[in-house]
Parts: sequence; C-alpha cells; structure tokens
Amino acid sequence: MTAKPKIILGIESSCDDTSAAILVGNEIRANIIAGQAVHEQYGGVVPELASRAHQENIIPVVQTALQTAQISLSDLDAIAFTQGPGLMGSLTVGTSFAKALALALDVPLVGVHHMKAHILAHFIADASDASPTFPFLCLTVSGGHTQIVRVNDALDMQVIGSTIDDAAGEAFDKAAKMLGLPYPGGPLIDQYAQLGDPNAFEFAKPQIKDLDFSFSGLKTSILYTLQAAEKENPNLRQDKRNDLCASIQNSIVSILMAKLDKAVKQTGIQTVVIAGGVSANSELRKRLLAQKDKGWKVSIPKMSYCTDNAAMIAMAGSFYLAAGHTVGQDTAADPRLKW
Ligand code: KG4
Ligand code: ZN
Repeated sequence: MTAKPKIILGIESSCDDTSAAILVGNEIRANIIAGQAVHEQYGGVVPELASRAHQENIIPVVQTALQTAQISLSDLDAIAFTQGPGLMGSLTVGTSFAKALALALDVPLVGVHHMKAHILAHFIADASDASPTFPFLCLTVSGGHTQIVRVNDALDMQVIGSTIDDAAGEAFDKAAKMLGLPYPGGPLIDQYAQLGDPNAFEFAKPQIKDLDFSFSGLKTSILYTLQAAEKENPNLRQDKRNDLCASIQNSIVSILMAKLDKAVKQTGIQTVVIAGGVSANSELRKRLLAQKDKGWKVSIPKMSYCTDNAAMIAMAGSFYLAAGHTVGQDTAADPRLKW
C-alpha cells in the first residue's frame, strides 16, 4: 500500500511578505501572499511596521490558503515555518503562530531555513519543466543573500561562494533608489531595462577572488557616473532612465554569470539553477538559459516561486519531515540562522 501524501501548511514571514501555502505530496494547492505597501514611502522595509503588518495578515492569509486548497485544519499532517534568517520581529510572528497551531492540533512542527527553501522550491511539482538532479549548483540571489551553493542532496548543501558586502537584490534596490525609483526597485529596473541600451554606460567591475561577490564598488561607480554625467545633463536620471537601468542590470547580471561560470568550471557540475527574488530578473533568466548551448542543464522556477512565498517553505518542510527533522515548542526564531 502506498503512503498517503502528507499535507503540510507552510508559513513565511521573514521580511515584508506574509504567506501561507498548502502542500499535498509535492503539489501546491494554495500559495497566498500578502505584500506590504506600507514600506514604499520609506524606500526600504521598516522592521517594526513589517511585524505589525504580519500580525494583521497572518490569520486571514492562513484562512484563505486553507479555503483555496479546500483543506481543514484537522487534515494537516505538519506545520512548516521560516525560522530564519530574516528580521527578528517578522520571523517571530510566523514562528509563534506556527508553534501555537502545531500545539493546538498536536502535529509535528518543522523549522525551515529561508534560503534553503528558495533552493528546494525547485522540487514543487509545477515549479519548472523538470526538477534538477543532484548534485547541482544554485545561485541564490535575494534582497539579503547572494551565494553559490553546491547542493549534494535536499539536506546536504554547501555554500561555495558568497557576497562580501551587498546582496545582488540590494544592489538593484540601491541603484534604483539613486535613480529615484520606489522600493523595491529591482523589478522596475528590469522593466525599464527592456527599453534601454545595456552598453550605454559602463561601471567598474569588481576584482574579487574565488567564488565570492562584491557589489559595493558598483554602487559607488554608479553614483560617480551619475554625478559626472549630470554636469552635462542635469535631467540625466529622467532622460536616460532606460539606458541607465539596462546598463545597471547588465553589470549586475554579468557579475553573477561570471562567478557562476567559474563555479561550473571548478566543480565540474553542469546542472545549474537559480533561486531567490532576483531570479525573477528577465536578463538573468535569459543569460542562464543561453548557457544550455554550452551543455549546462538549467532549471528556473516559475516566477511565483522565485520571490518570497510559503510554497517553498512547505516544500522544504516536507523534505525535513521525511528525514525526521522536526523542532519542539522550545524553538525560537533565529534572524541569523546558520546553514
Ligand atoms: O527573495 P526575495 O523576495 O526576498 C528576500 O528574501 O530578500 O528577494 C527580494 C529581492 C529585492 O531586492 C527585489 O528588488 C529583487 O529581489 N527582485 C528583482 C526582481 N524581482 C525581485 N531584482 C531584479 N529584477 C527583478 N525582476
Ligand atoms: Zn527570500
């Protein structure tokens, strides 16, 4: 007799999105995300406002997920939540909610690492045409992280390169802010870049050893380029917005692709995937797919599983649960949760 597929409620609240998802086996039946517009006017996430919004959103988001999936609380086999890394106040809302619900329902509780979940999102049934096979390399690029991870197995991951300063998403967002675009600017840079010339402006390239990244020099280079060019044209940021966006995007994506290429050569692993919010970037997706001609096996999750979502938390939870990695009521949110 085959085992009944497990039904898992996933909860994500690490930053500024409150999300709940229902996973049955490896199929997502609901993935509800409530964003927080409150941060836009401040040009970045305000932690205190984020945790307040999570408090307001968590119950309606979980209820909507259950209703959408037509699952009742008594059907749940486990609850998986983001334990870290992330903002303490935000994580605490999801963690406390998950603990209380698991206690009330007497079901196992699974603490999930947010970045590992971004990687494991590839195993959701409808994430892509085909799930990657182990071992593979994953470029995890989000607002808080930029890493190259060697994924030997769902539970065995090794970071082989990471940023020494800003994350790629941060580089996108900070550059967007310099252009006067609202937060988060990454998706807007992507959008305007479609209309611009990627070679219109040239910025400094980082010289960082091994597989590590750096984006702080690029940020300074963009600022100096803007200041110098504005002496000629004070309206540059408006007039050349599309060219600036295309050039900034080209620089960031080139930095990412150069290190990924190096990692493939160093490890001999040609199965390459991307994960995290910045993997929604159309230029990065295009450049990665172009590597198929070189023999790389590439997998890119669909957009809704790239940016923060609870579907990936439920999927990671399912791997952890199967391996018996559950946590007790004494567990706590951990903003700096280790790999
Ligand atoms: O993974 P994520 O949703 O949240 C974190 O865990 O950080 O990533 C958010 C980041 C933001 O910096 C946002 O600007 C960036 O992902 N992002 C993009 C795009 N969509 C989201 N950056 C560039 N192009 C995009 N299309
Ligand atoms: Zn994320």
